[in-house]
Amino acid sequence: MEGKFKNTFYVTTPIYYVNDVPHIGHAYTTIIADALARYQRLCGKKVYFLTGTDEHGQKIEKAAAEKGMSPKELADRVVVRFKELWQKLNISYDYFIRTTEEFHERGVQKIFQKLLEKGDIYKGKYQGWYCVSEENFLSEDVPLEPDGSKICPDCGRQATLLEEESYFFRLSAYQQPLLDFYAANPQFVRPQSRMNEVVSFVRQGLKDLSITRTTVRWGIPVPGDPKHTIYVWFDALHNYVTGAGYDWNPELFETFWPADVHLIGKDILRFHAIFWPAFLMAAGFPLPRTVFGHGWWLKDETKMSKSKGNVLDPHLILEKVGADALRYFLLREVPVGLDGSFSHEGFVHRVNSDLANDLGNLVQRTLTMVFNYFDGEIPVPGEEQDSDRKLAEHFEETAARVYALYDDYALSRALEEIWVFLNAVNKYLADQEPWKLAKKAEEKNRLARILFQALCAVRGVGYLIYPVMPETAEKIWNFLGESKKPGEVLKSWFNFYHLTSGNRIRKPEALFPRIDLMEFIGEVEKPGKAIESRKKPEEKMEYITYDEFKKMDLRVARVLTAERIPGTSKLLKLQIDLGNETRQIVAGVAETYSPEDLVGKEFIVIANLKPAVIRGVESQGMLLAAEIDGKAIIPFFDREVPPGTKVK
Ligand code: MSP
Repeated sequence: MEGKFKNTFYVTTPIYYVNDVPHIGHAYTTIIADALARYQRLCGKKVYFLTGTDEHGQKIEKAAAEKGMSPKELADRVVVRFKELWQKLNISYDYFIRTTEEFHERGVQKIFQKLLEKGDIYKGKYQGWYCVSEENFLSEDVPLEPDGSKICPDCGRQATLLEEESYFFRLSAYQQPLLDFYAANPQFVRPQSRMNEVVSFVRQGLKDLSITRTTVRWGIPVPGDPKHTIYVWFDALHNYVTGAGYDWNPELFETFWPADVHLIGKDILRFHAIFWPAFLMAAGFPLPRTVFGHGWWLKDETKMSKSKGNVLDPHLILEKVGADALRYFLLREVPVGLDGSFSHEGFVHRVNSDLANDLGNLVQRTLTMVFNYFDGEIPVPGEEQDSDRKLAEHFEETAARVYALYDDYALSRALEEIWVFLNAVNKYLADQEPWKLAKKAEEKNRLARILFQALCAVRGVGYLIYPVMPETAEKIWNFLGESKKPGEVLKSWFNFYHLTSGNRIRKPEALFPRIDLMEFIGEVEKPGKAIESRKKPEEKMEYITYDEFKKMDLRVARVLTAERIPGTSKLLKLQIDLGNETRQIVAGVAETYSPEDLVGKEFIVIANLKPAVIRGVESQGMLLAAEIDGKAIIPFFDREVPPGTKVK
């Protein structure tokens, strides 16, 4: 078991239900997995990245019936949608498993049979409240009515107490082995808070688990007793072994099992952290190293899900900004493990500020100078000075930290580090002022060194962002005239100074065009309208009515305190007085104003803008400002006005 973790890396996503098409929530898990897989490949590991679809069970049976098709027909259609989205998002999976595949069904039956023979599965009676209309046992937490009966929460009809024959998995026998396993493997469930949740649940006692149904036809038949079908979760969880070759490709299975990390959403934690290891223990398989439970993407404060009708269509966002911007936003905005709120403001801010400004402008500016001052040829650098050495050292330190963070699945923090370095490169250029040196012939060597250094930094940043933004990384390297793609260079081979003087660079194109918030909202909120409404804002005047304007609660705010948000160059956290309340807002004005400039000042805020979390800090409103060359200029009043005064 030990050796397995050395040169190989096996990462999985949950397999997605095919009752509906994919949304941002599904994309999130898959993007995390992809970034980890790409990073591990850079480390020189043999990687196996498995994703797929969960196609059996009542949910799918029902959804298909509603659409007037067979479950398999529905699955075949939806699978195409998943694969299409994964392709657009550049997901580099190695295998896409479908639970309707023959080898999977056979594998599950084989394991079922094995556990049956061993006595870990036995036939018993399942007693529960059954809804005849829905053909379903009610979940145990549906409360009893005053008369002692239960009402079906789906259709509102009276349920009947029924007993049916069922096969059970002897989960109760695994309570202690599981607790011992958790104690010996504290990394098995991450983050730690989720481990605590799992342990306390198991400590309360585990009941045997009914793992077959006679009421569901769309499932894998129990071997030798086909009136029962295998419960969808017993079936689905085993995709992680069948998809890695169990019972059909021993070499693959030997190489990769056990998985290094199962990435999952926190809603399916118990299945993965309790049932799954118990099934594996029973079958005698080594256990996976880590189950990592990420948080949810929320919209309007609730989990994004199709049933709530609050999902965002990833295709519309991709249409507008491309895969890397979405990948970056999802991985950067919240640390894996916490919930994130998807706000259009937050998204547009990240694209414009982090991607278009910090990254895009740096690349564009550096390359343009090489064109202007060295005719598009990477210059032979003049002597290295302290400031140059410091930049290179800063890169080395950043890279070491970023690798450690990627190793630890801390993607958001890794990106944060890369952006701190990006800001340092921007500052290096601002301090060195190459545009001034370019005017003096005797400074040519110095100019060459500065631009060489900046090009190395750009190349290095391209390398570090590769796991999260593969397309952008490749573009950057391509601009630099590199013959290799960043994904082809092992981490141990990468060197800051591996840049060849004399090579020609290519004319850069803007990596991330800035996007307009209102236009973005218009495009992503209206499914199907993405393409038609792509006129530039200045080409059309969209009038709003006075009533629409009145919906905005504009108020005078006075700044009480102001501080920089660490790790950002543009953001200030402000506490503001709004007359009868104090609020906190995040303002992107730090490039124009220092915190001291703002304390005591008054300006206008939109007080009823939905709160958003920006770089981990809650913002309960937004101040108004003009923007010139990416810098915010705040309109102040020409006399004192009481805080809270309405502006109209
Ligand atoms: N089929 C099961 C998993 C079986 S794995 C052996 C399932 N499928 S699902 O399609 O409903 O969800 C798959 C994953 O998507 C889960 O990890 C779930 O948490 C994730 N997400 C679905 N909506 C989400 C958000 N709004 N935000 C983040 N992830 C969420 O469960």
